[in-house]
Amino acid sequence: MNVMDRTFEPDLTVDLGSVRLSNPVMTASGTCGYAFELGDFVDLNRLGGFITKSITLEERAGNIPPRTVETTGGLLNSIGLANVGLERFIQEKVPLLEKMTIPVFVNVAGKTIEEYEEVCRRLSEIAVIRGLELNVSCPNVKEGGISFGINASATGRLVGAVRKACPETLLIVKLTPNVTDITAPARAAVEAGADVLSLVNTFTGMAIDIETGKAVLGNGTGGLSGPAIKPLALYQVQRAYQEVASPEGIPIIGVGGIVCAEDAIEFIIAGAAAAAVGTAGMINPSCLVKIVEGIRQYLKRQEIKTIKELVGTLE
Ligand SMILES: Cc1cc2nc3c(=O)[nH]c(=O)nc-3n(C[C@H](O)[C@H](O)[C@H](O)COP(=O)(O)O)c2cc1C
Repeated sequence: MNVMDRTFEPDLTVDLGSVRLSNPVMTASGTCGYAFELGDFVDLNRLGGFITKSITLEERAGNIPPRTVETTGGLLNSIGLANVGLERFIQEKVPLLEKMTIPVFVNVAGKTIEEYEEVCRRLSEIAVIRGLELNVSCPNVKEGGISFGINASATGRLVGAVRKACPETLLIVKLTPNVTDITAPARAAVEAGADVLSLVNTFTGMAIDIETGKAVLGNGTGGLSGPAIKPLALYQVQRAYQEVASPEGIPIIGVGGIVCAEDAIEFIIAGAAAAAVGTAGMINPSCLVKIVEGIRQYLKRQEIKTIKELVGTLE
């Protein structure tokens, strides 16, 4: 290509299984509400895709406050999956999602495999929903309250059951990073039928008020997000890409501490096909479109024709 060609426009499109995004930048679950809550601050339709907060079968009030606390370079939250529940989501929120012009993905959480199956089956019948993201970080109440996602076989059983309940639906499995070896749940999810992997969810952590001697969060512990986790998330994406996603041809959505285009590009070089932004968008929602623009400028500068060429190019 002629380096002086100023009209050169890189191709930013990304394919998540059968769903094409116009660019790789997505919202991360739980940080951008159900639909247009951030719509006054950012033109969401300029993003590649929208992922909702987690939806559960029943309405949930969430954990007792305080539910968020800032830490150095990060944010701890213990929201506890507060949400309106499946019925109200379908009645009140889906009509808003129908106004979106970008692909919409709904994140699903549950306490039992049966709950995931039921929520996913109902949501898979709704045309505007282009795919489901399974939040596997939730406690499995039927198997001792341990998170599905920290056990590879529990992850596999959950994904396999949802795959069977919704054979046609694009299934994204969002992994928890709170494991010794991310490749084990990643492999289990793919073998059970995941179309896309999304990683990572938050890292379990806590903060202590030294005046009272008590945990700051009402729940005691919470999940750490934001820039503090970026190197950790990047490492897990790179491992999952090399060992599982690349050999199996499965796209990854990279998540964790992305605040600017350069961060998102690191994730793409590590193996992510797309990048989701959470905490940074809560601080400054307009950063989401700036990240799209920054990626475009980078590809132009580097004379890379398509974003797909950059995925997993780590040397
Ligand atoms: C306030 C808050 C709420 C969240 N809620 C959810 C959720 O409902 N479901 C989910 O799968 N992840 C949830 N997450 C995790 C994010 O989607 C993301 O995986 C994590 O925050 C790391 O990305 P970040 O550093 O860009 O925020 C939440 C994160 C935050 C900060």
